[in-house]
Amino acid sequence: MKQKTTYYCTECGNEFPKWMGQCSSCGSWNTIIEVPAESKSAKNAVSRGIKRLPRTLAELDTAEEERFSSGIAELDRVLGGGCVKGSLVLFGGSPGIGKSTLLLQICVYICREQTILYVTGEESERQLKMRAERLKVRTGNLFVLSETNMDDILDTLESAKPDMLIIDSIQTLYSPELNSSAGSVAQVKECTNQLMKIAKTYGVTVFVIGHVNKEGAIAGPKVLEHMVDCVLYFEGIQSASHRILRSAKNRFGSTNEIGVFEMTEAGLQEVPNPSELLLSGRPENTPGTCVTCVMEGTRPVLAEIQALMTMSSFNVPRRTSNGLDYNRAMLLMAVIEKRGGLKIGGFDGYINVIGGLSIDEPAADLAAVLAIGSSYTDKPIPDDLVAIGEVGLTGELRSVTQLEQRIVEIKRLGFKRCIIPMQRRKLINIPDGIKLIEVKTIREAFELLIK
Ligand code: TYD
Ligand code: MG
Repeated sequence: MKQKTTYYCTECGNEFPKWMGQCSSCGSWNTIIEVPAESKSAKNAVSRGIKRLPRTLAELDTAEEERFSSGIAELDRVLGGGCVKGSLVLFGGSPGIGKSTLLLQICVYICREQTILYVTGEESERQLKMRAERLKVRTGNLFVLSETNMDDILDTLESAKPDMLIIDSIQTLYSPELNSSAGSVAQVKECTNQLMKIAKTYGVTVFVIGHVNKEGAIAGPKVLEHMVDCVLYFEGIQSASHRILRSAKNRFGSTNEIGVFEMTEAGLQEVPNPSELLLSGRPENTPGTCVTCVMEGTRPVLAEIQALMTMSSFNVPRRTSNGLDYNRAMLLMAVIEKRGGLKIGGFDGYINVIGGLSIDEPAADLAAVLAIGSSYTDKPIPDDLVAIGEVGLTGELRSVTQLEQRIVEIKRLGFKRCIIPMQRRKLINIPDGIKLIEVKTIREAFELLIK
């Protein structure tokens, strides 16, 4: 019987039934190669050897996954309570954000009890040593290997048998079996696959650094996310010193937690109270700013939203939004115009969330609306006031979840008043010394504060 073959692109990994000169998926030329498909009988022979019967849930092991601390509480929290032995964590972020720094820093604590192999394809061993000196990483349990060939890394792993493996970065690795260049989707996929096998077979905890390109994907369209156990993203603006660690996928915990760090001379420092950091330097008695409280996982975080409304000199006003979803911001401006009674149609509008935080919770709507209104009328929102509430299309305010928890945080940071949507039931756990102002619509909120 004629053996069937398939074709696939070595750049993007797409499969095709026939050969083509140009990949119709990623557009690169001469990248499609032929691979013999595994014959059916061969596949069957393999699986016959290790036939396994399904088991009922009750028969399965219930032992919890084995966890250990990274020594950095903010990272442990994002991981869902520490690193899981034998898991593979993908650590993404744009270049220069501090990925290598953070992973080198966790070595200090973890190396007290475990051995780590740090594979660097980006820096020389000398550069890594200099960085380690600066970060005061001094331990006999950290082994460094400057290598990019996947086969050689596997050999070293066999002989060194570390408890943990750090790969910096996945884009520099290549497997000699494929003839595409390092960093191509096919290579990145293949190397991650091999690392995943190592993690599962030997119980080695693997941290893999992956650079995020301009479009925000790790080497192509999120090709790795489905393969690994946990995906963390390191975010933040490079000019500002704080960084936010966010989990996009976690097979061992919740994905809502964030960790906040600050880049200092001595590496990344944890920021246990992000609200204080995000609010520091807030202008007083100035129009166009309002504070809100959003939930980042289980943690309430206070954030400042700023808006600038200026008379437009264009036919179509210019509008941008930073940190708040653009479409959401446009929707809020439309609601303000139509239901809030402020004629902002001919105004350019700029919205910014301070500190590189990106807010995706509707609870921040009211603060954004008030900041816009305040800038338009040039009347400041009181400094001791926080606004929480989702804004609907008719200009009504909708209640938000975990309101009590948010108010406790607001009180802790010294605010005196909080404007919230009208509550149907009485709130119980409200601390003394904070005044709640309940409103039904944005028009009501405007009348109270900026009219
Ligand atoms: P790095 O960890 O190399 O980024 P990545 O691995 O994500 O590409 O971080 C590089 C930046 O961090 C660089 O601009 C210098 C800065 N940095 C400090 O400010 N303090 C430090 O102690 C270290 C090690 C780096
Ligand atoms: Mg690096």
